[in-house]
Amino acid sequence: MHVLVIHGPNLNLIGEREPSIYGTQTLAEIDRSLRDLAAELGADLETAQYSGEGQIINALHAARSSADAIVLNPGAYAHYAHAIADAVAAIAVPVIEVHLSNIFAREPFRRTSVVAPVCRGTIVGFGADSYRLALRAAVNLASGRRP
Ligand code: DQA
Repeated sequence: MHVLVIHGPNLNLIGEREPSIYGTQTLAEIDRSLRDLAAELGADLETAQYSGEGQIINALHAARSSADAIVLNPGAYAHYAHAIADAVAAIAVPVIEVHLSNIFAREPFRRTSVVAPVCRGTIVGFGADSYRLALRAAVNLASGRRP
């Protein structure tokens, strides 16, 4: 089973970026802990970080033939990027949306995700654990178990 994790814009800077909101773990550290968890769950993990909306869309399209489930943190694109939502809707692979911070407790513009309605579920507000919870859900979905 192959799970793809896509980190969106500015997530390459977590660890140093607004640590009171996003925590002190770097993206490399989060990816390492996801790799460990994936091994435990018997899944094969691929992670990627993209700053551009088009790159995320291309990665979603490419995952049609390679991934059994996708964990996606669209970053700020979540709040307005309808083209990413269209790409998620266009593919049959289940996508789980993730945010480190609780977007519903932040500025008004962050309280909406245009991507959420086309995802299988959304996990927000648990810091790096949001990704780990999403990975568990992704593996369950891909293996046909209920999360
Ligand atoms: C984020 C939340 C977004 O609003 C923000 O633009 C990010 C990070 C999160 O993981 O909490 O870049 O997606």
